Amino acid sequence: MRLGVLASGSGSNLQAILDGCASRAIPAEVAVVICNVPGAKALQRAEAAGVPALLLDHRQQASREGYDAQLVAALRMHGVDLLCLAGFMRLIGPALLNAFHNKILNIHPSLLPAFPGMHAVRQALAAGVRVSGCTVHVVDQGTDTGPILIQAAVPVLDGDTEETLAERILVQEHRCYPRAISLWAQGRVQIEGRRVRIGAATDPARILSSPELLD
Ligand code: GRF
Repeated sequence: MRLGVLASGSGSNLQAILDGCASRAIPAEVAVVICNVPGAKALQRAEAAGVPALLLDHRQQASREGYDAQLVAALRMHGVDLLCLAGFMRLIGPALLNAFHNKILNIHPSLLPAFPGMHAVRQALAAGVRVSGCTVHVVDQGTDTGPILIQAAVPVLDGDTEETLAERILVQEHRCYPRAISLWAQGRVQIEGRRVRIGAATDPARILSSPELLD
């Protein structure tokens, strides 16, 4: 399976995906990393891993449609089967959604459907919740509304700031995202309306060689 990863910033989730592919915990390869922000660390991470890295700056495109068409063309050119958004700070338009229908994943730093959109960690602190976390979901036309694959809970501590809570959530993101992609690449993910069914592993050899799938 060939992955495309879209990132805008530090790319720590991208790194977790690259590491997962390198160790074969994820039975897939990263075919291309596309970044919309010049100088983003995500680009350096892709280059360091020897993976094709493209800078497609959205500010060079007059329209959102034009930018989406450019993304679709680049992803097709690299033979991408599954598209992973990893801190990509752009809304995905219909052209991209249709080209990769039900084949786009995103990671979000809250337990969806709570706190969608921007500043999810800030929203959780402001709401005074005791537990937050992260969610890997399939991308649909809404903002962080698609079917949920995997979630991990993270306690909110009394002294937490946006930074400390985000940091603890990020640790869980780095576990959840590779795991979700691995399940997908094994063909174990079935979308049934709003619900996602995770099928049993079919290859015993893979289970034995992948202790991360057992916990
Ligand atoms: C993560 O918190 C992710 O949940 C959100 O954006 C952040 C990206 O971080 N969508 P990184 O670029 O992967 O380090």
